[in-house]
Amino acid sequence: MKGTFPINKFRELRTPFYYYDTKVLRDTLSHIRTEVAKYGNYSVHYAVKANANPKVLAIIRENCLGADCVSGGEIRAAIKAGFPTDKIVFAGVGKADWEINLGLDYDIFCFNVESVPELEIINELAAAKGKIANVAFRINPNVGAHTHANITTGLAENKFGISMQDMNHVIDMAHDMKNLRFIGLHFHIGSQILDMGDFVALCNRINELQDKLEARHIRIEHVNVGGGLGIDYGHPNRQSIPDFKSYFETYNSHLKLRPHQTLHFELGRAVVGQCGSLISQVLYVKQGTNKQFAILDAGMTDLIRPALYQAFHKIENITSDAPVQTYDVVGPICESSDVFGKAIDLNGVKRGDFIALRSAGAYGEIMASGYNCRELPQGYTSDELV
Ligand code: LLP
Repeated sequence: MKGTFPINKFRELRTPFYYYDTKVLRDTLSHIRTEVAKYGNYSVHYAVKANANPKVLAIIRENCLGADCVSGGEIRAAIKAGFPTDKIVFAGVGKADWEINLGLDYDIFCFNVESVPELEIINELAAAKGKIANVAFRINPNVGAHTHANITTGLAENKFGISMQDMNHVIDMAHDMKNLRFIGLHFHIGSQILDMGDFVALCNRINELQDKLEARHIRIEHVNVGGGLGIDYGHPNRQSIPDFKSYFETYNSHLKLRPHQTLHFELGRAVVGQCGSLISQVLYVKQGTNKQFAILDAGMTDLIRPALYQAFHKIENITSDAPVQTYDVVGPICESSDVFGKAIDLNGVKRGDFIALRSAGAYGEIMASGYNCRELPQGYTSDELV
């Protein structure tokens, strides 16, 4: 089953561009709200890194999510889109002074701190402004995730977070720093996780850590479990809404949250992944020795995930019903890795056909680059193209 697209409107636009189906986005957000409402003390922050298109951010903000930011630029984008500053969390292993100062100036909800030197600098910069910064520690739980090696983050060998062994020491340090308020623990094990068992492993680890802290009479107000819920790249239409029910239920059944605690989530891909497609046109069909190539006007500069993570995106010829043939679908960039898919079955392709690369709403437009002096792709919503 192919997706449905406003092809006549597409013909008026210059390809390649991103197309966001706002019905899918709104339905996804509505599912999140329904599931979260069951639990009362759950708070979801949208991971802005997945997609910071202002039109997409505006719809997410209307649905009352907070924002998870990893740079000063993302904090600015979130504030511009109207996210309340007291619902902004700021993570990242390398926060620059100006970015910390920006967070302090806006009185953001929390800095997710990843190292001792960072803790010291936040304390120092907060003191200079006469402010108290809320901090949570990102703890590396040494929990693996069944996902691509480049997007797993919770193992001891990764650069992220503070080790479990150092946790007590760092919490003690924070208590001695006058311009900090220690409010919680933060975790994130990786991205595109479909096996709920991985989240169960995280819950078990958090339970152990909480017990240890409680034995030391250390009070944790907020537990943040990061993001990571995956989407079905193989079936963007059949499963356009990720399995939020199982996801939140998993945390509800396995995490021993104390009654006074709030549980925070930072979902990126699961919120925006399925609403977006990269729309491209076929430039040429080229016969190779023993295969044929469909050469698109979109390349790895527009969607880098296949080249960087060998990621699969469903490819559809949305303007052809011709008999199916097999193609290597490639872009125009001067790199052999500029390939969207090999041996892909598509309805017969000819020059000018529109090709949709599906499930590209997350880590698509935002990761585009100007390599080869190419223009960045535009993003349009279905609301605009009626
Ligand atoms: N919280 C933290 C601390 C993170 O590092 C990330 C993603 C998220 C939340 C959101 O994760 P999500 O719910 O989207 O899985 N560019 C890669 C994904 C990199 C994810 C980085 N961190 C890709 O295209 O697959």
